[in-house]
Amino acid sequence: MRIYYFKNAEDVALRMAGILNCGLTQVEEREFPDGEVLVRADAGAGTAIIVGRMYPNVNNNIMKLVLLLDALSDHGVSGMVLVLPYLPYARQDRRFRSGEPISAKTLLKMFAHHNVSHIFTVDVHKEGIRDYVSRPTLVNVFPADEYAELARKIGVGVLVSPDIGSLGRAAAVAHRIGIGYDYFEKYRDRNTGTVHLKVREMNVAGMHVALIDDIVSTGGTLLDACRALKSLGAREVTAIVTHCLMVGDAWERLTQCMDGVYCTNTVENPRASIDIALPLTNAVRDNIHMRP
Ligand code: R5P
Repeated sequence: MRIYYFKNAEDVALRMAGILNCGLTQVEEREFPDGEVLVRADAGAGTAIIVGRMYPNVNNNIMKLVLLLDALSDHGVSGMVLVLPYLPYARQDRRFRSGEPISAKTLLKMFAHHNVSHIFTVDVHKEGIRDYVSRPTLVNVFPADEYAELARKIGVGVLVSPDIGSLGRAAAVAHRIGIGYDYFEKYRDRNTGTVHLKVREMNVAGMHVALIDDIVSTGGTLLDACRALKSLGAREVTAIVTHCLMVGDAWERLTQCMDGVYCTNTVENPRASIDIALPLTNAVRDNIHMRP
């Protein structure tokens, strides 16, 4: 078994190799002036564990990954496993308008075609996408213990999800520390992309509230939710987010309202404070038969 890693995930790969006690190969990467990409790796026999961060430059990274899978397969690896801390395209988990693809399914089918047996990822947008394919097996790691420890440490009194989709996340963390949880309702116009948050009455007056969500992209969702909580009398609002994509001025927008933002390192960002390497490695060790 050997870990093949893209440079942007070196930290995760090194940690993983240390714990699993296996060899490590950095993938060579090239980008040509015309936009095409190329990869190269000295392939050995045995199972290949491929580790890469998919954000930013999502489409380039996907292309590099597909090229690597094909090259490793041509060179005779016996099996392939992906460790992608952030799984892109997962939000298009349904056909919202006729004529659209189900992009999450497209990606999984592509990996199946390349003989990938497992994908290990963190806090995938919706776990149900695994049912689109019989293989690869999607192993989703949700860092509920890490989030609960953080929430306890910073004195969170109630957890709130900015939409119904993250209610399960709020519940999982809240149950661990014995506090309450609630949610807002969010509506998205599928043609324009405009989002509207419907404020529900909730008892947050004078409390430290943590908003919990899988992704911050433009920051609009969390900003609206934060403002709503403050209008309901929340004393302090903190965000706990798995994938901090932070597009454009998202950080600046969030700081207009938030008292604190905590991110994992599934996506590299200067404020990442929750390390996902260990829970991801544990998941690999628990699910993969460690053949040499
Ligand atoms: C959507 O359902 C996700 O869980 C996030 O709430 C969303 O992607 C956040 O996007 P933005 O930061 O652009 O509002």
